[in-house]
Amino acid sequence: MEFQEVIAHRRDGVGNSQEELEMVAHAAADVARSVPNAPVRDYHLSAWLMAAYLRPLGPEETAWLTVAMADSGERLDLTGLPKPWTDKHSTGGVGDKTSIILLPLLASCGMTIVKMSGRGLGITGGTVDKLESVPGFRMDLTPPELKAQAAKIGLAVTGQTANLVPADKALYALRDVTATVDSVPLIVSSILSKKLAGGAERVILDVKCGSGGFMDDLGKATVLARSLIETGERIGLPVFVSITDMSQPLGRCVGNLLEVKEAAEVLKGAPGRLTELCVRLAGHALVASGLSASEDDGFVRARHALNSGQALGRAEEWFAAQGSTVDVFGHPEKLPVAPVSLLVASPFGPGFVEKVDARVVGQVVLGLGGGREKTSDTIDPTVGVECLKAVGDEVGADEDLFVVHAASDAAAEEAAKHLVEAVKVAKKPAEPIPLVFKTLP
Ligand code: URA
Repeated sequence: MEFQEVIAHRRDGVGNSQEELEMVAHAAADVARSVPNAPVRDYHLSAWLMAAYLRPLGPEETAWLTVAMADSGERLDLTGLPKPWTDKHSTGGVGDKTSIILLPLLASCGMTIVKMSGRGLGITGGTVDKLESVPGFRMDLTPPELKAQAAKIGLAVTGQTANLVPADKALYALRDVTATVDSVPLIVSSILSKKLAGGAERVILDVKCGSGGFMDDLGKATVLARSLIETGERIGLPVFVSITDMSQPLGRCVGNLLEVKEAAEVLKGAPGRLTELCVRLAGHALVASGLSASEDDGFVRARHALNSGQALGRAEEWFAAQGSTVDVFGHPEKLPVAPVSLLVASPFGPGFVEKVDARVVGQVVLGLGGGREKTSDTIDPTVGVECLKAVGDEVGADEDLFVVHAASDAAAEEAAKHLVEAVKVAKKPAEPIPLVFKTLP
């Protein structure tokens, strides 16, 4: 069959067969590997993506595409590692450093976690960039290295290798430049193909909802969550979803090394909204993995892992195993810092913070060089923003709202100008925003 027919079937609403979707995944893997003289080119795939955006894949088609994408490269086989094998994934958000806290926490509670993480794109950060910003930290572990480390400490994390779901590498890059990113079936197949290839028995998914994430309202986030669960059922990979708030930055810091330091503080026992979210997500993961009988039991166990230093101990082993040359937990002051820091005072009168728009803060950090607009951009790991006030906090006239960490005075001044646009101050305290909107199924 010619690929033009695959495109025409999608365009005309006929739909695509399993065989046709296998052709899509195969062709995308060839594009990712730059196979010379491949019969299907990136322009064919771009046309198919736009047709798939306008005529979305149905549930069966989404499952077929997901499996075909997972099979476009190598699949990890975790046989021999202690069970349960659980993977954790977030759809990404501004200041989302939960993986750095949750992974050692869950490993310290008895799970085996082998995780493939992604890089940041646009305003949402990526775990690969955050961890790679730690001097020496390796995010290029090979499958045998991943398995050997997970056998020792229950936890190993790597970036996407060239041979893991190559089809997603090409499709994701093409979606990014063809205005076809925000299609639920394409998002679902992209996420779950990587989870399937990663070898876990189940996935705990944090679907971020709000201006700083992919889905900016609860309705859309719920549609995505349901599709992830249904596709998981069809491909034999149980998926558990929490839909969590991303309307304001998560925690105090946004920016790669600043976030690593903040995650270390939480592992050392710092309280706050980020800590509470990690306890909630960990509690759900413990129940889903069969390690806790009830949510309450899961929350108690997760909190104990944090308060007793058990999660911290595992995190120290993890960072050392992956090559960190700085003692991030004992001596965070040894991590590199940006040359300029600037306090940003409130231009508003006294009152209560009603809004800190995650999207605006994310864009400011992108502008400082802390994120990338194109996959080829390099990032500055030291820059970012500390948010000194969160929604609900009281703020005095002239009180500081942010600290900007920048590469130059000019960049810091520019960031400060935009940051105040993220904030609204009201006379009365705002209703608190829930941490977790829903858990599914
Ligand atoms: N994360 C992914 O891995 N893929 C998407 O399409 C969206 C978020």
